Amino acid sequence: MTNVTRTSTSHYEVQKKRRAQFIEDWRDNHRTVIHLNDIEMHRTSRRLITGAYLGKDADSPVRTVDASAHEIEPGTFSTIHRHSWDAMMLCVGGYGWTDVDGTRVSWGPGDAVYLPAWSWHRQGNDGAVTARFMSFSSEPFIDILGFAVLEDGGDTPVAELEVPPISSDGRPGNDVYARRLRRLSQDQEERSHGRLHTSWDELQFLQTPRGTRTTFLLDKAVGYRTSGLTMAMFEIGLGRAQSMHRHSGEAWLYVVEGRGHSFIGPEPDRGTDYEWGKGDLIVVDHYSWHQHFNDDANKTAKVVRVHILDTLLNTMNALCYPLNLLEEPPDHIRSKQTGDLSTIVWPEVQRPSWP
Ligand SMILES: [Fe+2]
Ligand SMILES: [Fe+2]
Repeated sequence: MTNVTRTSTSHYEVQKKRRAQFIEDWRDNHRTVIHLNDIEMHRTSRRLITGAYLGKDADSPVRTVDASAHEIEPGTFSTIHRHSWDAMMLCVGGYGWTDVDGTRVSWGPGDAVYLPAWSWHRQGNDGAVTARFMSFSSEPFIDILGFAVLEDGGDTPVAELEVPPISSDGRPGNDVYARRLRRLSQDQEERSHGRLHTSWDELQFLQTPRGTRTTFLLDKAVGYRTSGLTMAMFEIGLGRAQSMHRHSGEAWLYVVEGRGHSFIGPEPDRGTDYEWGKGDLIVVDHYSWHQHFNDDANKTAKVVRVHILDTLLNTMNALCYPLNLLEEPPDHIRSKQTGDLSTIVWPEVQRPSWP
């Protein structure tokens, strides 16, 4: 007797249908601008006030990074927790602190804080004003792989909490097992010295050929060791625009200050203008041509772009080779879009504020 299931549908049809369905569902769920006013903030059992912009808990499935806003009321602190994914905080208003495995990081508006995977962390506010921060995590990506784990430690002191699994030391020898042990323990050792905090006061903005001035907030280039999570800020001058381009993947743009609009479309001359303002999140996706404009005559626009670059996007680039997933216009068209770069007037850099 056999237990073989017989079906008339081949692997080919099953897979073809599944792929088509996946892309159809994905497109149905696509959103372009998530407006601040549409975010519902709720008090959580963690003692934070939290609202989701993008992610399964906002009923908007994503594949790479999620986005949420959090508030901490004066005189309060959250429970301590840890998770198998890493996350970035972008502080947007007020002053507070974050304990990462017992190390306290104090932050203010415009600061970035990194929460490594499995680190025990909690947030607090000793001031008189509610503090607000955005979080962007790699949970959707880790969840796809089936390794998403979240553990809440309540108010247990960090010294009494479980430590994460420890990578065994490397062993001498050249066999594959010795090599793997050495390689992984060395990688974990390096990660344990990664950076946790960027203060707004130390940022250095530099003008780029795209017509904006930019700075890394949290990135490999400035000493962080992440899952690939990265944040950079760009600023658009008064009445100016960033030049047009297109690329693969989900990239979030969080508007820290200012107001403007983004042209997004399938062709450089065929698309839609989407308006945005402070606290909104713009989703640039679907390999669309896009260009961002500052519509405020008196204020620059400060926008933070978030994605998983060095790992996921590079993997995608490798898997799609020889397709070119980043396209920019030729220099003569780009310079028409940015205007004369030497005429852009940049104001002195000031900390963002909320609201
Ligand atoms: Fe967390
Ligand atoms: Fe872009």
